[in-house]
Amino acid sequence: MQPLYDYCAQVVGAWGNAMNERGGKATLLAHARATARSLAKRASTPQARVEICLDLLADIGEPSLDVFRRALRALPVDERHYWVGTLYTLLLPTKVRRSQATYFTPPTVADAVVDLAIEAGFDIQADTVLDPAAGGAAFLSTLAGRMAAAGLNPNEVAYRLNGIEIDTGLATLSGRLIAERLGSPLRREVIINGDALQVTIPASYGLVIANPPYGRVGLDEVSGMGWLKVAHGGHVNKYALFAELCFRHAKPDGIVALVIPSSFRAGPLYNRMRAFIRSQAEVLAVGSIPGREGVFIDVAQDISVLIARKGKSHDATAAVRFPVVGAVPSAAPVTEQTLPSEPGDAWPLPAIDPTLVGGSTLADYGVTARAGYFVWNREKSRLVAKLRRRQRGYPLIWAKNVRPGTTCLPSGKKNAGTDFVTFTEDSTAIVTSAAAVMQRTTNDKQPRRLVAAMVDPSVKSKWGGFVSENHTIVLTAEDPEMLDLAVKLLNTAAVDQRYRRVSGTAAVSVTLLRQLDLPSPAAFADALEEADGDCEAAAGAAYRHVLETSDA
Ligand SMILES: C[S@@+](CC[C@H](N)C(=O)[O-])C[C@H]1O[C@@H](n2cnc3c(N)ncnc32)[C@H](O)[C@@H]1O
Repeated sequence: MQPLYDYCAQVVGAWGNAMNERGGKATLLAHARATARSLAKRASTPQARVEICLDLLADIGEPSLDVFRRALRALPVDERHYWVGTLYTLLLPTKVRRSQATYFTPPTVADAVVDLAIEAGFDIQADTVLDPAAGGAAFLSTLAGRMAAAGLNPNEVAYRLNGIEIDTGLATLSGRLIAERLGSPLRREVIINGDALQVTIPASYGLVIANPPYGRVGLDEVSGMGWLKVAHGGHVNKYALFAELCFRHAKPDGIVALVIPSSFRAGPLYNRMRAFIRSQAEVLAVGSIPGREGVFIDVAQDISVLIARKGKSHDATAAVRFPVVGAVPSAAPVTEQTLPSEPGDAWPLPAIDPTLVGGSTLADYGVTARAGYFVWNREKSRLVAKLRRRQRGYPLIWAKNVRPGTTCLPSGKKNAGTDFVTFTEDSTAIVTSAAAVMQRTTNDKQPRRLVAAMVDPSVKSKWGGFVSENHTIVLTAEDPEMLDLAVKLLNTAAVDQRYRRVSGTAAVSVTLLRQLDLPSPAAFADALEEADGDCEAAAGAAYRHVLETSDA
């Protein structure tokens, strides 16, 4: 067993490294952004962008690059490549950068993903590799370095590695980065320029590794019918298409390593993708990368790592590893658990502490959750600032009216007055009972995913009810006290952390909210009294309560 002192020193060391790393990263990012701004006009073509980056790599070029160049000089090769690639992405027009999702994998994460692939059986000395979204060669350059270190000569390495990249400039740049890593020009075109979803890929590979682009695509942009295996008609995401491609081009027993948005784990619309993966491969590891801590530049969502071995379908009784793949290696032991028995069901992360299970849900509080009703930009004519005489309407609660710790009052979109939604007949969308409202999406600056507030009782007495916009979730209950208790609980960090384990996205899912594990109302109410109203302490105690009572 590891001595406690060593373990603590490792954790403290890792934390210190993380702090230094974050500070260093912030400075480099500031340099990269400033450099990109100063060169924006000159860098209007892929060729011009590549030239700027190659000058930087060769430590030459114009004086305006001096500060950034000096900063890069001090870095190890993988970091230097990452920042040169990142500069290229910052030189892209914002629209292009977003549509291609040119956000690169930092070296620590690329290294960790390659390690996971090797643990899963990828043979660095013998296997071939494909990265269909090669970007700045985060994976291929790392693998080139590892293969060279394992004794392969540059030609052998170049024949093993294959990349596809849609951006002409990046395809050129990443080829050069790999050559620099190997200390030798490449004898073949390792990275081809093209759309991986369109080009013919003639082979299958021992490792298919990718941090693919993401974002919705219309069915008119998709070719073939492969998308049906991984997506639903109105909701096709590029990363699901890339996942299908990656599994298709892995050899039997080959490893697929994907760095993808965590929405695939729990999103209701990713059930086909989950079932597809399980039908194609044994799922070996599902790593989580805390995306909101700035691991990926300009990426707000949580990112996961999937490691699977193609061939047999996944055995629901097999243990799956759930490592944390952060900016610094985690010292914590890796948790294992099985995936749910239904192939399409969500893959929750293991509980923070599997012994602390509350055993109740919102339904035990008598609380019903449903999505907010009004989509203002689809029905603008029903949104009015004032109701005419005899016009029927109800005040609209916007997501921004919801703040934890205070009751919620409808306040207009422009922060003045009240907005009303008109109705010509009765509707179940009009909430007349005791209610609370939650924000349905949060941004990366908000510390919590779950943000709830009771609707002020004056809303009912003044207007007879309310409606809320579609970026909210409405909670209703017959008993206002139970609802208030549930709201207090939902706003605690203990519950927020549990929600994050089951959901990987910034949007709060009504389904997952309904299933969320909570302490029983009695346990939380008692704990709240004991803790003198301190909700956080009470939530912690109430989750522990089940353990203590079952131990007794
Ligand atoms: C999220 S980045 C990741 C790049 C790199 N593999 C990494 O991990 O840093 C995705 C890359 O895929 C490229 N890309 C986007 N759509 C593509 C497509 N249809 N075919 C090939 N590459 C594509 C983008 O230009 C971008 O460089």
